[in-house]
Amino acid sequence: MSDHPSTYQPGSAIERWLDTRLPIVRFGADLMTFPTPRNLNYWYTFGGILAFCLGVQIVTGIVLAMHYDASGAGAFLSVNRGIMRDVNYGWLIRGLHANGASMFFIAVYLHILRGLYYGSYKAPREVLWLLGCVIYVLMMATAFMGYVLPWGQMSFWGAKVITSLFGAFPVIGKPLTALLWGGFAVDDPTLNRFFSLHYLLPFVIAAVVGLHIWALHVPGNNNPVGIEVKSKADTLPFHPYYTVKDLFAISVFMILFAVFVFFMPEALGKVDNQVMADPLKTPAHIVPEWYLLPFYAILRAIPDKLLGVLGLAGALGVLFALPWLDFSKVKSMRYRPTYRTFFFVWIVACAALGWCGSQEPDGQIIKGFAGPIFIDYDINSVTWLSRIASLYYFAYFLVITPLLGLIETPLPVPDSLFTPVLSHPAGVPVGAAAAPETKG
Ligand code: HEM
Repeated sequence: MSDHPSTYQPGSAIERWLDTRLPIVRFGADLMTFPTPRNLNYWYTFGGILAFCLGVQIVTGIVLAMHYDASGAGAFLSVNRGIMRDVNYGWLIRGLHANGASMFFIAVYLHILRGLYYGSYKAPREVLWLLGCVIYVLMMATAFMGYVLPWGQMSFWGAKVITSLFGAFPVIGKPLTALLWGGFAVDDPTLNRFFSLHYLLPFVIAAVVGLHIWALHVPGNNNPVGIEVKSKADTLPFHPYYTVKDLFAISVFMILFAVFVFFMPEALGKVDNQVMADPLKTPAHIVPEWYLLPFYAILRAIPDKLLGVLGLAGALGVLFALPWLDFSKVKSMRYRPTYRTFFFVWIVACAALGWCGSQEPDGQIIKGFAGPIFIDYDINSVTWLSRIASLYYFAYFLVITPLLGLIETPLPVPDSLFTPVLSHPAGVPVGAAAAPETKG
């Protein structure tokens, strides 16, 4: 696909002039004619939905920043009185930005699950996958810092819990935490640096998204069948086929987004954050936003602080390593029924971790006798469920994926993108076989 020849013809003297100096119109035109597999389903619209989400977050974020006061004394009021009540449509801008973060994560999780299911992380798309993982980590950091900015109780105490984790590292832990805090406690300097980084990171994400899309255009898209495109007949030009499909999906996504913004704007938030930060009053139950809960559960499942932090980092690390852990020659799980079953169990384990992360960690400790020594048993079922689910989470990547890649017998993989459509009982959709070939 990388050898997709340009079919752009400058239409006017100005376009010809620009084309020989900065061929930016040619670049856009080539993206539009890019040969895209014919069989992409709606799971392939989440990339476009994510680009839409990033745009919404940047635009609404810039407007919010115009009215935000990044000081411990002023932050809470600038958001809850200024933006929510005094600024024209401030409630709407904030509603879009705060719920937009959740929408962004819903889309990214579905985008990642799609990539896992169709084996899109495998050669030749490893760099595309790695860049996606970098985006995901940056998204988590950005969302976490954004959540601190309203300076409510959960903002403050969430910041305290998470930044204190860095203190678990030997030697560098303490200086690193002091650097993050800008002092010896979470305070004004912390809020200032979080605001600065929260403003910066979305632009870094946008730059990495640029690389992500570049890395996509070298090998071209994978597809639900998971075999590479063999000829021009397997593809369609990106525009109008996929621009229209993406726009339709974005419109449907906007309906869900609007339901949250207009009918339940606080559904995903925490009531504690309606109370101004108070360093002397710890909330009864400190929990992060829903999209970070599985990682929070892994962190808490491990009784040692440093090991917990390493477990959390490892949970992300295995995603980066995945292209080199899966030895199967077959990409799509459509043809890997055994692996697919383990994958669905992995999704259940992630959901279980998310639930565990939202629960109180009030473990009941009992003294027990194990062989010659007395030990403490934590009989809290939440803790144990998160341990079992964490174990499965890691086993899926480190044991099941490599092993099944070697021993599983996959179903026969079709030799063409057309075969599954032609052999479908519903027959060939009208016009599908007759759709025009990609130009160029
Ligand atoms: C701001 C976040 C992101 C944006 C805007 C974005 C954008 C896109 C777009 C436009 C595509 C092509 C259309 C599609 O396949 O849906 C794509 C493909 C892909 N993305 Fe992302 N992406 C993001 C995050 C991620 C993350 C977090 C991962 C994985 C960890 C990832 C992995 C992939 C993979 C593997 C493909 C190729 C899929 C295939 O061809 O089967 N992306 N992305």
